[in-house]
Amino acid sequence: MTTDSTQLGESGGEQRLSRRRALAKGTASTVAAGITGYVVAARARPTAPPAAAPQAGASRAGPRSAAGTDTVSARGSRQAGVDRPVQPQQHVALSVYDLPGAGRPDAPGSDFVHRSGKLVTGLGTRALMLTQGGDAALGGLPPGDVTVTVGVGPRVVAAVDSSLPGARELPEFAREDMPDSARGGDLMVQVCASDPQVVTLADGALRAWLRERSAAPRWEQYGFRTPTQRAQPGHPAPVRNLLGFLDGMVVPSTPQELAREVWLPTPARVRGGTVAVVRRLRLDVTRFLAQDLDQQERAIGRRREDGAPLSGGGPDTPLDLGAKSAQGRYLIPAMAHARRANPNGTGSGLMLRRGYSYANGPDDRGLLFICFQRELRTFVATQQRLDDGDELSGFATATASATFLVLPGFSAERPLGASLFS
Ligand code: HEM
Repeated sequence: MTTDSTQLGESGGEQRLSRRRALAKGTASTVAAGITGYVVAARARPTAPPAAAPQAGASRAGPRSAAGTDTVSARGSRQAGVDRPVQPQQHVALSVYDLPGAGRPDAPGSDFVHRSGKLVTGLGTRALMLTQGGDAALGGLPPGDVTVTVGVGPRVVAAVDSSLPGARELPEFAREDMPDSARGGDLMVQVCASDPQVVTLADGALRAWLRERSAAPRWEQYGFRTPTQRAQPGHPAPVRNLLGFLDGMVVPSTPQELAREVWLPTPARVRGGTVAVVRRLRLDVTRFLAQDLDQQERAIGRRREDGAPLSGGGPDTPLDLGAKSAQGRYLIPAMAHARRANPNGTGSGLMLRRGYSYANGPDDRGLLFICFQRELRTFVATQQRLDDGDELSGFATATASATFLVLPGFSAERPLGASLFS
């Protein structure tokens, strides 16, 4: 059996219902939870040595890859690679393209829309073939848990209907240093797998297929995640980033949270899709690590060893943003990243962060930030609040930036992009 959102139902995973929840508490959190309607679950487990256990969310009995992982169905009402497998695979190739039809697309119903829809449908078919096994492009390797996730950029969505989610471009933010070619784009192809060779070969096959159809590559980034212990059922385990801190602790993960924060319920054209933001963030790792541990932890707002909040308790304890020292100072400093990014402060939704570390060389390494949410505003409000004062942001420079509508799921009977382009 493979993991498939149609099999799991609209909520995306019945096993997640059994999840132990840690509810937000503390003065500030409680007040703001009332405002935003959130119940933010904080959960963390220190990472463990490499384990060959199957990825959570993968099947028990599909074809297995060289890395010993199980398959993840490409089919479903929602695309794979967003919340399944539950534990993101260890490797990613994220590519951004422009679709043929340069210049401004015409009004809805234009040839640009028609041709884009046709190309996306073909891309979905090609992706299905790659994930099913036996595709010559994988050189005999089993596909394992490879997933291909496709999104279309604002220019494409707006050409269909400018009122749809995903039709708006990302604004510019502080600390950006990127050529025009690394900003925006028409098409996102995210390939993830436990086996980096499968990622490379599948990404290469899709790239060749797209180039043959005149899609123009903009930028591409490979990324990796540290191995984790097998995640608890239904819970993505946080992983250590290049700064040594556990990342991905506060994310929506239950079916209810994912339905509320990530998946688009309406309109019908986008139901089962989500809005992705991808940003390549170059980190000054050397300068960050040159600080003493206390400074590093104050920049994040959590302990490096186990991710416990500086307000006290263990890794599972929610942030207490109101907690103060005997001298009246916030235990989680005013400019700590965890405080600045907390939805209670931004008044926005809670994004699903599913990023990867990257290393293009000693001076270009950092975080390939990938997040999914219902509303672009969730990312924008959070980023703007970080721009206004976030200790960690002083170590980061964005070198690529884009947003995409991740299309609703697909199958052999229901082609990729069918609802958007129909
Ligand atoms: C500059 C690179 C970044 C690094 C190294 C980083 C790292 C971290 C770490 C270690 C945490 C605490 C653990 C956790 O909850 O996952 C965290 C939390 C978080 N980060 Fe980042 N982050 C970065 C950029 C961003 C950006 C650009 C955003 C969105 C605009 C963001 C949004 C969040 C959110 C929403 C949380 C959870 C806050 C909470 O409610 O506790 N981060 N990040």
